[in-house]
Amino acid sequence: MEKQKEVVVSGLRPTGLLHLGNYFGALRNYVRMQEDYDCYFFVADWHSLTTHPDTKSLGENVRRVLAENIACGLDPEKVCLYLQSSVPEIAELYLYLNMLAYKGELEKTTTFKDKVRQQPENINAGLLTYPVLMTADIIIHRALYVPVGKDQEQHLEMARNYAQRFNHRYGELFPEPQAYNFGQELIKIPSLDGTGKMSKSENQFATIYLADDDDLIRKKVMKAKTDSGPLEKNSVKPDYIENLFQLMRLVSKSEIVHAFEKDFNECQIRYGDLKKQLADDIVSFISPIREKAVAIYSDTKYLKEVIQKGGENARERANETIRMARELIGLNYFS
Ligand code: ADP
Ligand code: TRP
Repeated sequence: MEKQKEVVVSGLRPTGLLHLGNYFGALRNYVRMQEDYDCYFFVADWHSLTTHPDTKSLGENVRRVLAENIACGLDPEKVCLYLQSSVPEIAELYLYLNMLAYKGELEKTTTFKDKVRQQPENINAGLLTYPVLMTADIIIHRALYVPVGKDQEQHLEMARNYAQRFNHRYGELFPEPQAYNFGQELIKIPSLDGTGKMSKSENQFATIYLADDDDLIRKKVMKAKTDSGPLEKNSVKPDYIENLFQLMRLVSKSEIVHAFEKDFNECQIRYGDLKKQLADDIVSFISPIREKAVAIYSDTKYLKEVIQKGGENARERANETIRMARELIGLNYFS
């Protein structure tokens, strides 16, 4: 019998345009995993309501995220690509898991504390239980691996706790999901101004989006913070310089990176040249993706078909899980 593939789940919120952080933290791994795993990738539209209650641009963002996913190389014939809101079983599992999640631990979550600072006027219960919904997204497919960036590490730890609590209380059903980056550390793509990470909605001029045109990419990179260069040979790089090298390691050829490393170590680096090279390499990387995304975005019929088929497949597995969960909890009173 053919060995069953291990299950992978991950999601992106449709809260804005995708950027290099989403690509290198998440999407690149989705694409690498699609051949060898049973993959479920979705647009986390329910999650976006926790921070973006105004749904005026939600539809457009959902279509864009889908188009960008496919433009980056995800093949809807190989993976199940769907909307979170197409799978009501997730909401049911979220409800059960909420009874196993404690207010104190939810209040201590880093992302919750950040959001409380950012939106003090809208500290809703969905925001508090964000990690519970995320757990439901993952374990509804009984997934083992979750390709995400470093910022999601704590959420994954919570997901393992909730899966464990369920198993312990009601009986073994869920594997404990692991954050995944091909045996390597999870990554965080820094913003170009040296403060924090690239993000969909903050730091827009210091974030490079997959939809940015060539000129804008060049402008953003050329504005990145540098200084007048190291004064001593083999110095430690300041964060904002290390960030530029980190990006370069992802998009440039290794000979090029080595040459700039050498110049840095010998105090001969010219940051203007480094940024120009980095901008060129980011442009070469992004422009084909951007063009594909535009074409896919305008093919509404195709996107609709993809999402319909993905939703059906996702529901099939989700339904299996929910039936088992109900049975274990003891909600099957008359069978
Ligand atoms: P954002 O934080 O920009 O709103 P999401 O929360 O939708 O993006 O994140 C989607 C995926 O992209 C997650 O797996 C997240 O870990 C990853 N991600 C987001 N920003 C970065 C970043 N700067 N570096 C690495 N991964 C990131
Ligand atoms: N919380 C994730 C983020 O902000 C998005 C997300 C929602 C997710 N549900 C998920 C990621 C399940 C992986 C698995 O990036």
